[in-house]
Amino acid sequence: MKDILTELENRRETARLGGGQKRIDAQHGRGKLTARERIDLLLDEDSFEEFDMFVTHRCTDFGMEKQKPAGDGVVTGWGTINGRQVYVFSQDFTVLGGSVSATHAMKICKIMDMAMQNGAPVIGINDSGGARIQEGVDSLAGYGEVFQRNIEASGVVPQISVIMGPCAGGAVYSPAMTDFIFMVKDSSYMFVTGPDVVKTVTNEVVTAEELGGASTHTRKSSVADAAFENDVEALAEVRRLVDFLPLNNQSKPPVRPFFDDPARIEASLDTLIPENPNQPYDMKELILKLADEADFYEIQEEFAKNIITGFIRLEGQTVGVVANQPMVLAGVLDIDSARKAARFVRFCDCFEIPLLTLVDVPGFLPGTTQEYNGVIKHGAKLLFAYGEATVPKVTVITRKAYGGAYVVMSSKHLRGDINYAWPTSEVAVMGAKGATEIIHRADLGDPEKIAAHAAEYEARFANPFVAAERGFIDEVIQPRSTRKRVARAFASLRGKKKPMPWKKHDNIPL
Ligand code: HXC
Repeated sequence: MKDILTELENRRETARLGGGQKRIDAQHGRGKLTARERIDLLLDEDSFEEFDMFVTHRCTDFGMEKQKPAGDGVVTGWGTINGRQVYVFSQDFTVLGGSVSATHAMKICKIMDMAMQNGAPVIGINDSGGARIQEGVDSLAGYGEVFQRNIEASGVVPQISVIMGPCAGGAVYSPAMTDFIFMVKDSSYMFVTGPDVVKTVTNEVVTAEELGGASTHTRKSSVADAAFENDVEALAEVRRLVDFLPLNNQSKPPVRPFFDDPARIEASLDTLIPENPNQPYDMKELILKLADEADFYEIQEEFAKNIITGFIRLEGQTVGVVANQPMVLAGVLDIDSARKAARFVRFCDCFEIPLLTLVDVPGFLPGTTQEYNGVIKHGAKLLFAYGEATVPKVTVITRKAYGGAYVVMSSKHLRGDINYAWPTSEVAVMGAKGATEIIHRADLGDPEKIAAHAAEYEARFANPFVAAERGFIDEVIQPRSTRKRVARAFASLRGKKKPMPWKKHDNIPL
């Protein structure tokens, strides 16, 4: 008996060493942690339950039968984050470059199936040379099985990808279908074809970092949601994100103890809006002042900064925030901001996270670049996402809410449940100057007359009261009392049920 126990321990010890100390040292030398060290940091201490530690590949081509590392390049199982269950896979670059064989894929599929069955998020730590070249089509089939599960799990359990090394070729499409992608600066990259192929096909000379590094994907392509300095920071931030999320689409987000008075009055908000309507102010200040303990988890902070998306808590409960940012492009809606916010709204709706929308929007960005690239379809994504969302929706207009953008930003007409406006709001078809130049075109040569018309328009329309008279705004509120009003609004909506017409699924303009 003792021998068997010793053998088990020996086998475990060998499996835990992955590709051996030399390769572990090389991994550390690149500033990367090993697959197991990452799991240790991600999960609560001693909570990891491993599966399939002894799985080996079945390939007999290219001499592969002579090297059969236990675990086959991926560590899988489940554990907890602050006591809540998550499933995890962590690719081990020290074992055959973390490459994906049929059995490696099978291990990932097993925990994805369990996650869906048991209603817990899946966190995938990616560090892999891609398809195991020796296995050919078996590897591709394995990827296909993972992809299919990513699709089936979408909207059922949250899926989070952390890219901590190479992720190239078709392999990128598994993370691409998950809800959030995090990258590590200087040690991770994602691309469909690498720099060498790019050079051959398009003659462009580009480094791996420029083509698909963390900065590229958080600033230019918006493929990734955030970039972190190192593995430790990235994993700590995944833990923080998971704390905001429900475990699955049937359960509510966790309620955290809070130490911040929901009725807290913020007198400084009364002067947030500058006297000059064209002067910007920082919408993040409002978000931080509304949130419990000023805790804001921003998603896609570096992309389309004219709109802000992320999570806060009110009375300990998660709320998704979408807010125009007047500091960037005057908070205008454009292709990038509409896409960014639409995806965020849909995530929140999938997982029953209520939505708070803070509006200061002068309209959609004009121009050929926008039109040629399809601002009509992309803008419609956000419109569609808000209109189909059945979670509690509370809106606060702080200043401008012009034209189509007013309707898009969770207006009453898209079934906003409670729509507030500050007294500084201007709910109108457009700004006074633009409106005057159209309806009083005949007076364009006379600046005095134009100024008088603009003043008249402003007095009539540059306020929240025309909309409030029609019930499109439920109440004009004091800026200082916004946290209290919004917290009470969400409290009143906790029992919300909003059935939609039966359909197989909608056809959001992609
Ligand atoms: C088998 C692989 C491998 C792979 C790496 N290794 N990639 N083994 N299949 N795809 C092995 C190496 O042989 C090496 O083994 C070890 O992993 C580490 O690799 P190195 O090259 O020494 O590391 P490094 O210099 O850091 O370079 C990493 C790399 C490079 C850039 C990822 O290994 C590489 O280019 N690999 C091939 C990438 C690729 O073309 N993959 C297929 C893409 S197509 P030893 O024993 O020496 O430690 C694809 C399709 C997916 O993925 C489709 C889904 C539908």
